[in-house]
Amino acid sequence: MRTVTVGVLGSGTVGQDVLTLIQRRRDIFSDIGVNIEISGVLVRDLTKARNVPAGTPLTDTCDFLQQSEVVIECMGGIDRPLGLLRPYLKSGRPLITANKALLAERWDELREYALNGKLYYEASVMAGTPVIGPMSTVLRASTFKGLLATLNGTCNFILTQMEQGKEYAQALSEAQALGYAEDPPTLDVGGFDTAHKLTVLARFSADGNYAYENVQVTGIEHVTLEDVQAARARGEHIKLVGELHQEGGQWQATVAPRSLPHDHPLCNAGAGRNALVYEGEESGSLIFAGGGAGGMVTASAMVGDLLDYVLGFPGHVPLH
Ligand code: NAP
Ligand code: HSE
Repeated sequence: MRTVTVGVLGSGTVGQDVLTLIQRRRDIFSDIGVNIEISGVLVRDLTKARNVPAGTPLTDTCDFLQQSEVVIECMGGIDRPLGLLRPYLKSGRPLITANKALLAERWDELREYALNGKLYYEASVMAGTPVIGPMSTVLRASTFKGLLATLNGTCNFILTQMEQGKEYAQALSEAQALGYAEDPPTLDVGGFDTAHKLTVLARFSADGNYAYENVQVTGIEHVTLEDVQAARARGEHIKLVGELHQEGGQWQATVAPRSLPHDHPLCNAGAGRNALVYEGEESGSLIFAGGGAGGMVTASAMVGDLLDYVLGFPGHVPLH
């Protein structure tokens, strides 16, 4: 049996479920001859109660990174995780992350690792709904025409609750309590999280170096209860929509609230679920839909990435 040492940064909504799922799926690792050993789990507050398997080696220092064959980052933020991970990444070891802000905003530094197949980040866009996998593999053969997507579970949740008459502030605090929202939630409601995800997707489909700064962003903070209910009266739904399309030979990425007809694929995904409509010349129109926020649905993609790594598959390689 081969032992693979795994270091984990963060044990909040996502990290706890990653640890739980690794424990729950020991059988599939053992079937391929692998024993996963958790080398350390970084947290800020060692006194906090956590829902993690007994014996989890929680710590507030990062010494375990040296003994880790692979690291799973679920702490969030940008410069703090990058600062911790820089020497680790330079050593050529793989990183599994759900951190789209880090990927979108520090691509200059991370791109080389991604091109070398060292970054695994299925969970960074649409959590456990696989979209980066297909876009980084089979869909490459098709000529990309554009995509339209709802990519933020917090905004989906808030807008759905507002359709039922709930005030924006109340719906936002419920999304936070469910563990859907970023810290701070302005990242969600301001449209920036959707812009981070759209940037990650653009690098598999439009331009391998697409810059986050090029995304035009409008959030949902100014959408009122009256707007949402007027849309419902017209048979429409307001969604925060990310779009990638070509204009004058240039790829344009935009994030903005839009009112869409009830039968639009972005409205049909089910309450609170994300959806993505992908247009390829040869592939035709494809629809991906599913849960896009929450601990276990995100953990399912991260543990899937861990399985890919131990099986010898490379990480998600962007366009060269
Ligand atoms: P979270 O619940 O706030 O958990 C963050 C964890 O990181 C906590 O355990 C925290 O420690 C630890 N941490 C944060 N800063 C730290 C520091 N400076 N030093 C040591 N430990 C630190 O966040 P989350 O919702 O799990 O999200 C984690 C990442 O996953 C983010 O990048 C997020 O964008 C991404 N993501 C989240 C979801 C979701 O639905 N939540 C879905 C997809 C992707 P303490 O517990 O001690 O405070
Ligand atoms: N805050 C994010 C969302 C988490 O609401 O979609 C998943 O990326």
